Amino acid sequence: MKKQWVLDYEEYNSSEELSLQDQELLNVARGATKNAYAPYSQFLVAAAARLEDGTIHTGTNQENASYPVGMCAEQTLILGLTTKYNQFKINSIAVSYSNLNGSSNHPVSPCGKCRQFLNEFESRLQAPIRIIMSGLSGKVWIVNSIADLIPLAFSSDALI
Ligand code: THU
Repeated sequence: MKKQWVLDYEEYNSSEELSLQDQELLNVARGATKNAYAPYSQFLVAAAARLEDGTIHTGTNQENASYPVGMCAEQTLILGLTTKYNQFKINSIAVSYSNLNGSSNHPVSPCGKCRQFLNEFESRLQAPIRIIMSGLSGKVWIVNSIADLIPLAFSSDALI
């Protein structure tokens, strides 16, 4: 039997078309790219989360001379939150980047490892996390749940 996975996502030509809340979140992510530490790739990534209580928190990629030790922005964001708070829910995460070797006018989506990481987290919170993706300018993509970005995901179900 042939099966199909369909990805529903929204595309906007610019952040000005977003709700004020989403614009704010994306602007925080865009601004936070300056806090990234990416001397090796020159690719500065920031992720900003809006929690259910309305507060906004950020994470940035932190590279390392031993390349695999480096961490993605989505991971530092979640690790920071789980370290600080026991109970919270994430409404949306905006991911942006600044490319010192190139342009930043097209959305980038979370890497495979981050999709796996965020998917586990979404399951833990039992609430969908919207992902807003955009460069410092240009088009914006939005998915309503990280699960949409990781079809046939590996999860704890497999371990039972
Ligand atoms: N990076 C992220 O922080 N998040 C992603 O989803 C994609 C990649 C970082 C890792 C590395 O520091 C740099 O971007 C270039 O790959």
